[in-house]
Amino acid sequence: MAAKRGPNPRPGILDIAPYVPGTSALPGAGKVIKLSSNETPLGPSPRAVEAYLAEAAHLSRYPDGSARPLREALAKRYGLDAARIVCGAGSDELLNLLAAAYLGPGDEAIYSEYGFLVYKIAILAHGATPIVAPERDLTADVDAILARVSDATRMVFIANPNNPTGTYLSFDAVKRLHAGLPEHVILVLDAAYAEYVRANDYEAGIELVATTQNTVMTRTFSKIYGLAALRLGWAYCPAPIADALNRIRGPFNITGPSIAAGVAALNDKKHMQDAVEHNTVWRGRIAEALERIGLRVTPSAANFLLVHFPRNSGKSARAADAYLHQHRIILRRVEEYGFPDALRMTVGTEDENRAVIEALSAFLDAA
Ligand SMILES: Cc1ncc(COP(=O)(O)O)c(C=O)c1O
Repeated sequence: MAAKRGPNPRPGILDIAPYVPGTSALPGAGKVIKLSSNETPLGPSPRAVEAYLAEAAHLSRYPDGSARPLREALAKRYGLDAARIVCGAGSDELLNLLAAAYLGPGDEAIYSEYGFLVYKIAILAHGATPIVAPERDLTADVDAILARVSDATRMVFIANPNNPTGTYLSFDAVKRLHAGLPEHVILVLDAAYAEYVRANDYEAGIELVATTQNTVMTRTFSKIYGLAALRLGWAYCPAPIADALNRIRGPFNITGPSIAAGVAALNDKKHMQDAVEHNTVWRGRIAEALERIGLRVTPSAANFLLVHFPRNSGKSARAADAYLHQHRIILRRVEEYGFPDALRMTVGTEDENRAVIEALSAFLDAA
């Protein structure tokens, strides 16, 4: 692109398609059922809210610059080394910090075909080249990723489970992927939905981070902990990678109220277990109900389901989306992920789930 007069962003920046969050509101008054952003239907732990509010008394003070109380609580909870945890304003910030520290012009970073959109943005934002590996059965394909590793590869991003498909890679598959990567390539395991997985062959990444020099696991408080508005995430890293991230992150990148709420949320184990239980039950029931009315649902390990619609005959995903909006229900269009014929539905409360099933059933009957 020819340079315009005046300031120009670095090469790559204008190649980025801005991230467009899902619809979050509808015109008109009245309650909306919003199942478009994989937020928890149970809300945050009341203890987290209380801890957050208590911090209002200290707003003139800078927070602990390294989020130490939160890192220590995470270390205790998961049996980790607190010095190797880096907290971020959402895992989004950590994904960007990883790209900032390790990617530049001439470098390549790989993600899979239906991988989370933020990877491409982070790669392009730092002047590197995104390389897309095709998937198999809507699941990351280890061989396809390894086949795309070149001398220029510096990073591989895997969301496990992946958004928007909900599919996951077994620990064996992740280990095979890691074993095939050169030592200088960082494997980023984005485990934003790890807490929801109920599969014996899954491991979020802690073990690989502990035993290798080039694996990073990212986690979030936005999903099961219900703190999306606070923007709170964390990464578990080999010591040299934690050191690099700490050099470039903002010196006070996590707010005091976020630190306090995060610690309290971690300590409310019952709230988290209830959320897992609710999700496991309703993920299964929704999938079953939607398949019964003739929709195909990709098996999901996370807190959402990718629901596929027929392309034609008035029953398309677009038509379903419009119909649901009329009934004040918002699911996520996933066209930009490469799924023009699907909608992503977050598991909601019992009432919300029943309302969506009923509405989709009526939609298919009417179409
Ligand atoms: C796979 C994946 N990674 C990371 C994130 C970002 O989460 P956070 O709110 O921690 O930035 C999301 C949010 O939707 C996600 O789906």
